[in-house]
Amino acid sequence: MNKNFIKYSWEEFEKLNLHQKVPLFNHGQTPYHCLIAQQFDRNFLDHLYHITNVIRAISKSKVGALFLQTILSDKRAMLYFMQPSTRTYLSFKTACQILGIQTSDVRDSSISSEVKGESSEDTIRTFSSYVDMIIMRHPGEGMAEKAAWVLEHSERPVPVLNAGSGKDQHPTQALLDIYTLRRSFENFGGLQGKTVLMAGDLMRGRTVRSLAQILTLFEGVKIIFSSPENFKMKQDVLNILRTQNVNFIETSEFKKYLPEADAIYMTRVQNEHDTDSFKSEQSFPDFSLNFDDLSKLKEHCAIMHPLPRRQEIDPKIDNDPRAKYWRQERNGMWTRAALMVIIFGKCNEVLNYWSDISKQVNHTAKANP
Ligand code: NCD
Repeated sequence: MNKNFIKYSWEEFEKLNLHQKVPLFNHGQTPYHCLIAQQFDRNFLDHLYHITNVIRAISKSKVGALFLQTILSDKRAMLYFMQPSTRTYLSFKTACQILGIQTSDVRDSSISSEVKGESSEDTIRTFSSYVDMIIMRHPGEGMAEKAAWVLEHSERPVPVLNAGSGKDQHPTQALLDIYTLRRSFENFGGLQGKTVLMAGDLMRGRTVRSLAQILTLFEGVKIIFSSPENFKMKQDVLNILRTQNVNFIETSEFKKYLPEADAIYMTRVQNEHDTDSFKSEQSFPDFSLNFDDLSKLKEHCAIMHPLPRRQEIDPKIDNDPRAKYWRQERNGMWTRAALMVIIFGKCNEVLNYWSDISKQVNHTAKANP
């Protein structure tokens, strides 16, 4: 239980700015609840990168995979997904499987007691009676934070992981995106100093909103926000970039910027957020990548998309080595597994196992040159 958290009534908590909330969500420097991208600092990202790579390496052998399944085999998780999801749901679920966590699902409010009039707050509290972690996707923008607040005021303040909150944030997607970018640029000087072109519905895309905010942790990164005039990145994110002196531009052109991009992050139109007074089209043809565009891209350019896609990326591009979106999917599983290892304080167990295995391998290699 975070003693600072319980000092705040919900009304007081809601008024705090994001930076005031971070120490309430973190235990020390490390996320406990994982709710907003502002919780991640560079040390945390570096640590997560390392743990993710170690978990991947351990899981390559059957004994390693079986070891990982013991790491959190005493834990249970609830996957509470109140919006459609394929990748985020599956990657969280398989991350749990990798670590031996047992999972339960509620993916449809019509089969939960919410139809009987139970509040989401009571539903969350009920989950915490049975599980040790709640992974949730919700259309309500503050709902994941509300869940953490409710639980911190209960006897079982289990961690809450935000798997997408309305059109606001998607912090674990940002983690897997950063991981994918770093791996993509491993042999190209790293992510620092690179130019990232983000295109599409930037106003309502929670993935780009979270990602833009943690790109600020990499020195010299330039961001090009490319969108139709009515779908520009909102000022709250731009203001954060301004205070961090991040080099960014906003433009309604897309193709013109392809040659200078080190990474291109495509997004689909988020028209599930349309209202009666704000209707959008299904796709923005001017903000899409065709096969012919490949010739304009840098040789190391990382083509990314959180998926699902509509027409933003021509499927003919899928087999180009620069297409990283399928890797993003799989990286999501590893990154989320690493996040859980960190949240539950199991890094040393994983790292010690890896160092023992590495010693044995070196020893065997020396014995059998
Ligand atoms: C994104 C989401 O749900 O915000 N998808 C995902 O999590 N992989 C992007 C989208 O739905 O367009």
